[in-house]
Amino acid sequence: MSKLFTARNMAEHQIADLDTQLLRRKLRTNESPCDTKVYVDQRELKAFCSNDYLGLANHPELIAALAEGGKLYGVGSGASHLISGHSIAHDLLEKKLAACESKHIPNARALFFSTGYLANINAITGLARLAEQGKASIYSAKLNHASLIDGVRLASAQTKAKVALFDHQNLDSLEESLKQDTHPLKLIVVDGVFSMDGDIAPVEKLLHLAEQYDALLMVDDAHGFGVLGEQGHGILEQAGVHSERIIYVGTLGKAAGVSGAFICATEFFIEWLIQKGRPYIYSTATPPAIAHTLLSSLKLIEGAEGIARRKQLNELIQIWRDEMTFSGWKKTPSSTPIQPVILGSNANALAVAKLLDEAGYWIPAIRPPTVPVGSSRLRITFSANHTVDDVRELIQVLKIIEQTVESNS
Ligand SMILES: Cc1ncc(COP(=O)(O)O)c(C=O)c1O
Repeated sequence: MSKLFTARNMAEHQIADLDTQLLRRKLRTNESPCDTKVYVDQRELKAFCSNDYLGLANHPELIAALAEGGKLYGVGSGASHLISGHSIAHDLLEKKLAACESKHIPNARALFFSTGYLANINAITGLARLAEQGKASIYSAKLNHASLIDGVRLASAQTKAKVALFDHQNLDSLEESLKQDTHPLKLIVVDGVFSMDGDIAPVEKLLHLAEQYDALLMVDDAHGFGVLGEQGHGILEQAGVHSERIIYVGTLGKAAGVSGAFICATEFFIEWLIQKGRPYIYSTATPPAIAHTLLSSLKLIEGAEGIARRKQLNELIQIWRDEMTFSGWKKTPSSTPIQPVILGSNANALAVAKLLDEAGYWIPAIRPPTVPVGSSRLRITFSANHTVDDVRELIQVLKIIEQTVESNS
């Protein structure tokens, strides 16, 4: 039997195993632009599952900016940033992103990436390399996003950094570990808004610990940038913190409606990451037209329209919190557009997602390893393009589905 055939057998076995555990993921194709109503399999569905929190992904001004960017800069960057791919559009965007966080990070400088996944890998592996082999400690929140987990694993493999997990809702054990840590480099890594629960990290307390125990604090604000703070500058603006110990990551494919991400930190950290961040060095720069489009997105986020969109979003969140009552299911309300409904088993989550689909809603079941075993859920997300009626209708539909499921069980 050839090696390839053995590998094929293994793949078939593993996939069958995923099927048995109800863990197989399925791709569904959206036939329309990202918005609150989409077409899937030629059926209109109301979508409550994207991260397009401000409803900018299909905004006419951004569509026009992308076309303009294409005319100005072409469609490809042609090379990595350090070769010849760094265009004036990237430069302008990075300066604007640094300005967004400059009240919170002294001498702020920003570095633009094609995705948040890469930005996180770059930041963690790059920072860990500041210390000699085996002389760094990384403290990572237990419920951090996969991109942070992978960044921490890679950094540990590359630099022999010590890794410890902590509970972001109870920082006692983190403090205890920091107190005893004699390594010259300590890095705390945390989601700003936890992507599957919607709760917000205690960034002031974490910064206090970072200052007390001479650590760096890296905050991945993928779900906060654009959403939190008066101007939408994210968790640092909302918390009102300021420190050169903060390494901030914001993503631009969620509330900003486009694509990409950035690391913002004090100048000398960014200079280091340019020198040693392998994803930055060895990857083709994002098309400059995307950077050009993002400049328009940032204008919307900071301006009157962004303020109005955040107000609408917060109204929808409040309606959900006030009016969604389940008799048995567990709702863990958050103050962000991410609202989980915990259903427990994979079978329950899949059954409810299917009933929602039949009722005309797109809210997929989220299962392990994205969430801990036994906490499979619906991850409901709101967009400023949803109306109050959209949210009230969803609430009614969910109440009916809960009664149906419970009376059948
Ligand atoms: C918390 C968090 N960080 C990072 C990312 C990755 O960002 P991107 O989708 O831009 O790669 C995600 C994506 O969902 C996320 O939820």
